[in-house]
Amino acid sequence: MSSLLVDDIGELVTNDLGGEDGPLGIRRDVALLVEDGRVAWIGPSRDAPAADRHLDARGAAVLPGFVDSHAHLVFAGDRAAEFAARMAGQPYTGGGIRTTVGATRAAGDDELRATVRRLRGEALRQGTTTMEIKSGYGLTVADEARSLRIAAEVSEETTFLGAHVVPAEYADRPDDYVGLVCGPMLAAAAPHARWIDVFCERGAFDVDHARAILACGQAVGLGVRVHANQLGPGPGVQLGVELGAASVDHCTHLTDADVDALASAGETWVSGFVPTTVATLLPGAEFSTRSPYPDARRLLDAGVTVALATDCNPGSSYTSSMPFCVALAVREMRMTPAEAVWAATAGGARALRRDDIGWLGVGARADLMILDAPSHLHLAYRPGVPLIRQVLRNGVLQ
Ligand code: NIG
Ligand code: FE
Repeated sequence: MSSLLVDDIGELVTNDLGGEDGPLGIRRDVALLVEDGRVAWIGPSRDAPAADRHLDARGAAVLPGFVDSHAHLVFAGDRAAEFAARMAGQPYTGGGIRTTVGATRAAGDDELRATVRRLRGEALRQGTTTMEIKSGYGLTVADEARSLRIAAEVSEETTFLGAHVVPAEYADRPDDYVGLVCGPMLAAAAPHARWIDVFCERGAFDVDHARAILACGQAVGLGVRVHANQLGPGPGVQLGVELGAASVDHCTHLTDADVDALASAGETWVSGFVPTTVATLLPGAEFSTRSPYPDARRLLDAGVTVALATDCNPGSSYTSSMPFCVALAVREMRMTPAEAVWAATAGGARALRRDDIGWLGVGARADLMILDAPSHLHLAYRPGVPLIRQVLRNGVLQ
């Protein structure tokens, strides 16, 4: 059993309810012992047990690794020209998804694999220790299955998004496409996926199709997440709550009834502990589509659990940077730095229904980052600066 002591931590964000200083459970001037990939002990450095190796944090801040619960990494090509057109005044409609579908179908496995690994590597260097990865740019049985196979090589959090849009060849018969998604495509995808997701939006899938697809996924044991209320108001958020989704993502256009549904999610479900439906906000998408940001304050004040994620994809949000999303959330969405850091770590873990990550206490997975800064505040205070000095995943220095 090998052990590692992270020593001389100036500020430790634990996200542990037993900690001090509000929701981040901040502890100061401590050391943290890792054994077998887990946190084994936290306390003052002078009381630290002996360890095989030492990592000197030199008074820096140490945080749980970011949990990016929403990313689309399996694609080919880019859509920089579409971004330029938007910055010149064109609106974002999601219509470009089909461009990426064409490029992805034409790409070889190694090209897709290289892109996934490049983006996963970028994210890791920016502190992301867990990253959910969706399919959704294949939209044939074979292309969705291979997208998920490639995603599963680098993440255990994989999501089947065969219902991203109706592909061009099914444009005039969407019912047939829904049948394909629920039948052979789901059968080929499910062995490689933990989750199922649907883009429930005007121009993508209506509420009846979305409900049918998500129910088919649930029936084969996949957990539910929904792309909802991104481009306009709609039924996606309430559908997600109705089905007990782990997360509804985007949440940019919400009615009071949507917020109420999220605030009471979980409470109305039958016996036993059922975790809530998280509202996952994706400010990279609003940045890159020049759209109004979601109202995080309204959700937080209503008691909704909020997560932050990148939505990394070549169309609406080509960033793998959780620090960037934290900074946007603080500056543009009226989240406090503490709320944003919590949402990007513990919030993401809840959106993936994981209790082993997103916090640092005895028993948690030793997924953490050491900042080149004395406090978590610097993530938003020093936007665009590479502040992630070192990352541990499963207790292993990356
Ligand atoms: O989450 N909204 C749907 N899907 C992606 C965008 C995909 C694309 O534009 O290629 C999103 O923003
Ligand atoms: Fe997305």
